Amino acid sequence: MFHIPLNTLRAQFGDIDIYLFDQLLKGRIQKGMQLLDAGCGAGRNIAYLMQAGVQVYGADISAEAIEKTRELAAELAPTLPAKNFVVTDLDALPFQDDKYDVVLCSAVLHFARSEEHFKGIVQELWRVLKPGGMLFARLSTTIGLENKLQQVDGRFYRMSHGPVWFLANEKLVVELEKELRLERLEPLKTVLVEQERAMTTWIVKKAPSCY
Ligand SMILES: C[S@@+](CC[C@H](N)C(=O)[O-])C[C@H]1O[C@@H](n2cnc3c(N)ncnc32)[C@H](O)[C@@H]1O
Repeated sequence: MFHIPLNTLRAQFGDIDIYLFDQLLKGRIQKGMQLLDAGCGAGRNIAYLMQAGVQVYGADISAEAIEKTRELAAELAPTLPAKNFVVTDLDALPFQDDKYDVVLCSAVLHFARSEEHFKGIVQELWRVLKPGGMLFARLSTTIGLENKLQQVDGRFYRMSHGPVWFLANEKLVVELEKELRLERLEPLKTVLVEQERAMTTWIVKKAPSCY
């Protein structure tokens, strides 16, 4: 009987985030779309997308990360220009308004340096999204761990594995949704890791243009 070997899954999708994989299964990312991975790191979430004909761009503050992502693109999708991958702080993206169908921001926002920086990044991710486009973010938050985390200063918390992270709470997320007219595509989903860390998946749509 015909069957597809299970080990082809890893060869195709590598280390892609499981919640991003869910969005693929829901058909929200399609061939030909313009997609930015904001804080792309070494590109684990875009390796499959590059090969699937998505017009992938990447941005990261680390020159080393962008070098690795360019190498990945050269190997997997040689038609993607190296200039699609840029070294930049996400609070000042060198891209035009309303450019992307999809913006990913996975495991980045909790590295914000202040509340202003956090809001500035979200504002930039929103600016470069097309009306109707999807923002997919995974970020550490306080959700589900209120009063259980070691607060250092304001929104900064000492995590059990050592670093101090900026943790948004649900109120801040809701405020940004209202301010930027973001519509939820999914309910907020938060995974608690050993009751020490909360990872929230925030998937929203930029309001379609009024015109
Ligand atoms: C934990 S890694 C996540 C990488 C990738 N998104 C993933 O899910 O595998 C965090 C990445 O965010 C980048 N980063 C952190 N703060 C940033 C900022 N303000 N602007 C741009 N990139 C940033 C880091 O350089 C790093 O590559």
